[in-house]
Parts: sequence; structure tokens; C-alpha cells
Amino acid sequence: MRNMASDLSAAAAKSYQEQHGFLPKKWLSGGPGTSQNRIVLHLTWQASMFNSLSNSVDCCQLKERMFQPITSRREETLLFAKNFLQHPKMLGSLIPSSRFLVDRLLGKIDWGRAKVIVEYGPGVGTITAHILRRMGPNARLVVFEMNQDFVRYLRRSFPDPRLDVVHASAENVQAELARLDLGGADYIISGIPFTTMPEELRAKIMRESRQALNPGGAVLVYQFTRAVLPYLRACFGQISQDFEPRNILPARLFYCTHESA
Ligand SMILES: C[S@@+](CC[C@H](N)C(=O)[O-])C[C@H]1O[C@@H](n2cnc3c(N)ncnc32)[C@H](O)[C@@H]1O
Repeated sequence: MRNMASDLSAAAAKSYQEQHGFLPKKWLSGGPGTSQNRIVLHLTWQASMFNSLSNSVDCCQLKERMFQPITSRREETLLFAKNFLQHPKMLGSLIPSSRFLVDRLLGKIDWGRAKVIVEYGPGVGTITAHILRRMGPNARLVVFEMNQDFVRYLRRSFPDPRLDVVHASAENVQAELARLDLGGADYIISGIPFTTMPEELRAKIMRESRQALNPGGAVLVYQFTRAVLPYLRACFGQISQDFEPRNILPARLFYCTHESA
């Protein structure tokens, strides 16, 4: 556990620095040893704290996870962490989103009009599970995931006829919705790391998302920084913002619609 935590910690520090361009001062100051050691120590503590946190989440969320009979929270956590070590840029986060972030994000959705919902980057299905629980019996959810391990895991964990797991990048949203005979999306929920992807891909995903929206539809984006805001502004007429501190890392939320401000 100690070695794993320290591997995770070093990778987390690397990813944090890539996303934010710096490491927080408190990770670098106080106590003996080199800066590198202090970062690893701090993040080792974070990783072990997360481990105990995810154990308690096990009990609290047991009932809600009844539609995931074959897999467990521990399996999800390990699968996510393993994939983060292999593809830190593609995942952009060491651990899945917190329940607080999920609630704040999904609280923006009018479930009565959510007939076609799209999710980008479901990972191990942390948000997917809650969307499926809240959406109507005739609504459809299409998730786009590039990571083969996650795709396999999602297909096994969520045998729900309302769900389509597409093994493709978000940039294919229009083509895939057409293939599934779904027309446009009422909501697109995006958890993909926009700041670490190539400019051209980011622009294409935003353009495709905007075009895939039904009239009155919205794109909900969560990120760890505000760096994505100028790109969202270039594409959407109106953007409202929110913040959820109870997440590792604290998250920024952007609610984007076609209507001009
Ligand atoms: C930070 S994780 C989010 C996981 C989950 N939604 C959560 O909130 O816990 C980002 C996910 O986006 C996926 N991803 C990255 N780029 C993508 C793209 N262009 N299209 C679809 N998925 C992508 C990664 O494989 C990863 O599963």
C-alpha cells in the first residue's frame, strides 16, 4: 500500500504541475528532506486519506450501487488509479469525482426534458451511475470513453438498456448520435481534461458538441481550473459558472447554452 500510495503521489504531483503549471507552496515547505520528498510525503498522505474515504463511501452508497452488481467501489478505485498511472494526461485526475461534485453538476439538469443525455469521459462510471438513477425510463444515455479498460468495465457494470457505451473520442458525438438514430442531445456532460489536449482536438470537440445540442440544450463542463473558459466563450453564447470545493481537486463548473447573454 505504501509503495502504491507513493507511486500515485508522484504521478499526482506530475499531473497537478502539468495542469496548473505549479505546485502549491504548502507542498514544498516545512519539515525535513528535499522538495521532492515533501511532495511525495504530502501526496502519500492524500492517497491514503482517499483510500479510507473510499472505504466509507462503500457503505454509504451501497444502496445506490445496486445496479452495479458485479463490480465494487474498491475495484473502481484501483482501476482508475492504475489507468491514471498509465495515461495521466488522458485522465487528468487521480481519483473519480466526489459525490458533492456529482450532485452539484446533476442539479443543473431539468430531468423532465432530458430525453437524450451524452457524457464524455465516464471513466469507471461515477457520474454515469447517478445519471441512470435520475433519468426517465424512456430517456437515453450515450457515453464516450477512449480508454479500453474503462469501456469494458462500463459495459460489464451497467447492463442498462437505456445506456450506450461508445468506445470513441468525444469529437465523434454527432456521427455516433446519428448512428444510434438519436438526432441531437438535450444535455452533454463533459469530464474530459480539456486543458491537456491538443488545441485542434479541443476546438473540434467544442464545435461538435455545440452542433449536437438540441434547441434549448446545454453543455455542462467540470474542470480543475478556469483555463477552458476562453474556449467555451468562443463557442457558446451564455456560460454560467459554479464551484465545488469538496472534491479532490476542487472543481469549476461551467453551464453552457446557445442563447446569447
Ligand atoms: C477525469 S476522468 C473523469 C472520470 C469520471 N467522469 C469522473 O468524474 O470521475 C476523464 C476521463 O475522460 C476520458 N477521456 C479523455 N479524453 C477523452 C476524449 N477525447 N473522449 C472521450 N473520453 C475521453 C479519460 O479516459 C477518462 O476516463
